[in-house]
Amino acid sequence: MSDGKGINVLAICGSLRAGSYNGAALRTAIELKPPGMAIETADIASFPLYNEDVRAQGFPPPVERFREQIAAADALLFVTPEYNYTISGVLKNAIDWASRPPDQPFAGKPVAMMGAGAGMAGTARAQYDLRKCCVFLDMHPLNKPEVLIGQAHTKFDADGRYTDEVGRGLIRDMLVALEQWTRQIGRK
Ligand SMILES: Cc1cc2nc3c(=O)[nH]c(=O)nc-3n(C[C@H](O)[C@H](O)[C@H](O)COP(=O)(O)O)c2cc1C
Repeated sequence: MSDGKGINVLAICGSLRAGSYNGAALRTAIELKPPGMAIETADIASFPLYNEDVRAQGFPPPVERFREQIAAADALLFVTPEYNYTISGVLKNAIDWASRPPDQPFAGKPVAMMGAGAGMAGTARAQYDLRKCCVFLDMHPLNKPEVLIGQAHTKFDADGRYTDEVGRGLIRDMLVALEQWTRQIGRK
């Protein structure tokens, strides 16, 4: 846990590619976060595919680190692409790894989510599936505002800057709401 002042958020991005719109959206969130909020980004790129036989030997070191980061965070921020109407395998794999016992670290965590996708729905379907994972893992997802970045290829400039002013305002509002939500449910 953090030191009793600001909110310490762990961000988890479900796209690994260098030019990812979701990665760019996460950088936007870091740019627009309220004063006192810290956002750290988890590195899930090196996780092996989930295998219960491997887990039985112990969590791989990057997974162990991820589990520790989740446990230490006041809140989580998922940034999800939409793959075939659901979350990416990369993100699901990370959630699956971290979710295994003992001491399932997601339980009780306040969560916000956002996503950028090529389609008009802006990852709405993926985010709805992600909410199902949150229910099973006993997380507390923020309901609103939703941040759904549709037709992402038209919303970021060549430097990866999110240029939609309405959307930027939604990200700002969502992070303020996450901070309030985190305090409201007593994590902070
Ligand atoms: C395997 C795959 C499935 C996809 N399925 C969807 C989809 O269901 N809905 C959608 O809006 N975009 C879909 N797309 C397009 C993604 O939205 C687009 O590639 C987006 O840029 C991925 O996020 P990223 O830029 O953060 O990597 C898909 C892309 C891939 C690679």
